[in-house]
Amino acid sequence: MSATVTLEFTLNGAPVRLEAAPGRRVLDLLREDLGLTAAKEGCGSGECGACAVLVDGEARLSCLMLAAQLEGREVVTAEGLGTLENPHPVQAAFAAAGAVQCGYCTPGMTIAASELLARDPAPDRDEARRALSGNLCRCTGYVKVVDAVLDAARTLRGEKP
Ligand code: FES
Ligand code: FES
Repeated sequence: MSATVTLEFTLNGAPVRLEAAPGRRVLDLLREDLGLTAAKEGCGSGECGACAVLVDGEARLSCLMLAAQLEGREVVTAEGLGTLENPHPVQAAFAAAGAVQCGYCTPGMTIAASELLARDPAPDRDEARRALSGNLCRCTGYVKVVDAVLDAARTLRGEKP
């Protein structure tokens, strides 16, 4: 049995304290230990973006992060962006634009999009496409995804009724 360490970090706005093997993947920690299943395992090797979460405001691939790297950090998963009743503007825009088909890539896409809009409130189409280039989708063809990101940007800038 591997040794564990005590980790303290913030998860979706709430403090968390838990024991974990320091080399446990953050993706497994979130899904199996903490029951947060929005982050998905696609490739497991840093290629697809399905496992993305925000760590200190930056989109990170949880399949490549180890539990010990979470100490003292602020982690937000797609569950922490918004809820069904009160979705984040990015989540609402994905739903409204039909940018969700099977949905497997969607949590990671919304994490990447929310990171983009936090640092650049008015991206153009190419910038939005580039920001999502690490997130693979086998269903949508990306057009509606980019539409949704630009629509969410308008909402966040207060340009929509
Ligand atoms: S599962 Fe992490 S990048 Fe694909
Ligand atoms: S909606 Fe199916 S993989 Fe993107």
